[in-house]
Amino acid sequence: MIEQLQGHNFKGRRGLGMGGHHSPAMQKDEWLTPPHIIKALGVFDLDPCAPADHRRPWDMASRHYSIEDDGLAQPWAGRIWCNPPYGLGTAHWLKRLADHGDGMALIFARTETTMFFEHIWSRADAVLFLRGRLHFHHVGGTRAAVNAGAPSVLAAYGEANVQALQASGLEGQLIRIKESDQVELDMK
Ligand SMILES: C[S@@+](CC[C@H](N)C(=O)[O-])C[C@H]1O[C@@H](n2cnc3c(N)ncnc32)[C@H](O)[C@@H]1O
Repeated sequence: MIEQLQGHNFKGRRGLGMGGHHSPAMQKDEWLTPPHIIKALGVFDLDPCAPADHRRPWDMASRHYSIEDDGLAQPWAGRIWCNPPYGLGTAHWLKRLADHGDGMALIFARTETTMFFEHIWSRADAVLFLRGRLHFHHVGGTRAAVNAGAPSVLAAYGEANVQALQASGLEGQLIRIKESDQVELDMK
């Protein structure tokens, strides 16, 4: 199991070492969102980056696209759930969600990255930094024995999704982005 999870950067017994863009050493793309997270957030209309139908142990949304469809090349409608594929391509999914304006993303809290600045800090309506580290699930449905090795954040686009974060009961720190009095510091 460690081998499956590790990708390349396993650093310890209790979690996966930080690496990759999206997360730790989660080099395979098929890590599923823990079902309690989706349940807490209400019904989504579309998961544009889901495992193929025959591989999915549960539904994340009413409709799904898989890699066979190429979810980025498809039309998106309604409320979107987006736990995107890992790697440099993650930014394309976040941009698409920000442009769409209705939905939520689950990614690792790499708050310093260009991707985070361009598609979350600048465009999301709120973020919920989850307390603790998630245990993602294997595509077969079983929960990973080790945690993801990094903190996760939910980013909400659209007011209804901010409210869903507020009502979710998920433990963490919620920050409204667009309404907060953010001061842009000149770092030069
Ligand atoms: C991190 S997993 C998340 C799965 C699911 N969205 C969830 O929340 O549990 C990313 C998923 O994206 C799928 N994927 C990768 N490239 C894709 C593409 N071009 N179009 C649609 N899905 C894709 C992978 O097969 C994988 O199932």
